[in-house]
Amino acid sequence: MRKIYIFDTTLRDGEQSPGVNLNTQEKVEIAYQLERLGVDRIEAGFPAASPGDLAAVNAVARAVKNATVIGLSRSREQDIDAAREALKGAQDPCLHLFLATSPIHRKYKLRMEKEQVLETAEKAIRYAKQYFDKIEFSPEDAGRTELDFLCEVTAMAIRAGATVVNIPDTVGYMNPSEFGNIFKTLKAQVPDIEKIQLSAHCHDDLGMATANALAAILNGADQIEGTINGIGERAGNTAIEEVVMALATRAEFFQATTSLNLKEIAKTSRLVSKLTGMVIPGNKAIVGANAFAHESGIHQDGMLKEKTTYEIISPETIGLVDSKLVLGKHSGRAAFREKLIDLGYELGEDAVNVVFAKFKDLADKKKNVSDEDIRAMLEEKLIDTPEVFTLEKIQVNYGNQSTPKATVSIRGAEGEVKEQTAEGNGSVDAIYNAIDAVTGEAVELEDYSIKSVTHGKDALGEVHVVLMQDEVSAQGRGLSTDILEASARAYIDALNRLIEKRKSPGRRDKMSLI
Ligand code: KIV
Ligand code: ZN
Repeated sequence: MRKIYIFDTTLRDGEQSPGVNLNTQEKVEIAYQLERLGVDRIEAGFPAASPGDLAAVNAVARAVKNATVIGLSRSREQDIDAAREALKGAQDPCLHLFLATSPIHRKYKLRMEKEQVLETAEKAIRYAKQYFDKIEFSPEDAGRTELDFLCEVTAMAIRAGATVVNIPDTVGYMNPSEFGNIFKTLKAQVPDIEKIQLSAHCHDDLGMATANALAAILNGADQIEGTINGIGERAGNTAIEEVVMALATRAEFFQATTSLNLKEIAKTSRLVSKLTGMVIPGNKAIVGANAFAHESGIHQDGMLKEKTTYEIISPETIGLVDSKLVLGKHSGRAAFREKLIDLGYELGEDAVNVVFAKFKDLADKKKNVSDEDIRAMLEEKLIDTPEVFTLEKIQVNYGNQSTPKATVSIRGAEGEVKEQTAEGNGSVDAIYNAIDAVTGEAVELEDYSIKSVTHGKDALGEVHVVLMQDEVSAQGRGLSTDILEASARAYIDALNRLIEKRKSPGRRDKMSLI
């Protein structure tokens, strides 16, 4: 079996998803989980985008011990210098340089002839080689680049010192046979191609990112780039969990394997969804809520007789434990601790006490506390947002014949509690108007979404909001058995993050790759 290297770009290309904005702590938390998942390489960000991005990449570089940490860079000295700075402290740093090569990008974006593209990229690789042993070079929009020119670019990158050449289908235009053919041609025609690794980086605009990545593997790719849950620019990137599970499930066909710890897939997927606020569609392959649900009578009958009739992957393989231990208000600390271990969480005594108290509160409101409820509670305060404002009390009056009215009490940074009442178009609008009146912050609500953590009328509701102020955005999350309270908590969480961002300017909102 050939080993396929997994290059995770959730923290860079994934973070380019609209509405996603991870802070440094969140990036580090995801990086730790990616390490547990066992990815080989983690692209932590684009250091030249802003001082804040540089600091976030540096925090990841210092935190990660068992994976290569990568910083993205345009083919310019100042970007390379920013990446050098950001990757200081990394155990195994790597620079990811890119320059567009397709005729469309050459003509309209770069306004460069082929020779200039070759020269610019070569100069950048040679400059970077003074500082980095490991350099990945990406001819951006390789999918739409003339194949003979792509061979020329790849040969130049090898001569100049690149250790990986990555082939991006930047706009998700390729189909598997065309994309596979690129790898076959590079392998056959480029001198010294065996001295480097070839990588595939696909986007999902036509829904073919996973198929294209697998076609690349069949034609000699050594590395696959992708993101968890397939998040990323526009329609997203190759979903790592899909490629990895295809290789694991069809090992005999692909004759290739990865070193991922498959049991960490579900947990990683949940964490990325929670911290990015990008909800996973129920029918998403591998990690969607329905991926292992069997609805039709014929399928259920088959499953009862022999699971393999309709199940090609068992849920346990990706770490979905079917725990038999149901907790309720009479459950004690010992059962609770056992449940945490069952769910794969190792907490210290103090942390267990905090979560146990929360569990008891929840068990007073719900008959059965499910595994999902416990996970949601555990992950709620994963990231400590500095709390300028905290919700003390909330009261809402709603009737379908009257204007909704909300009163909120909020504690400020100095410990003072202020209360305001406001009306709105709906209950959530009234709550948000009341919060604005207390805090005096002028913000725009860019996005609001709500999902239930489990099934049933007493399920925990999780709200995700994105707020915008002076072109800076921040996301927030709130969790409660009551969706209005969850809405208020999410809004206040986002406000606290906006204030934090104001204090440390420099973290850009979205990078531009030009
Ligand atoms: O899609 C793309 O072309 C990229 C490059 C920066 C590798 O993300
Ligand atoms: Zn990309």
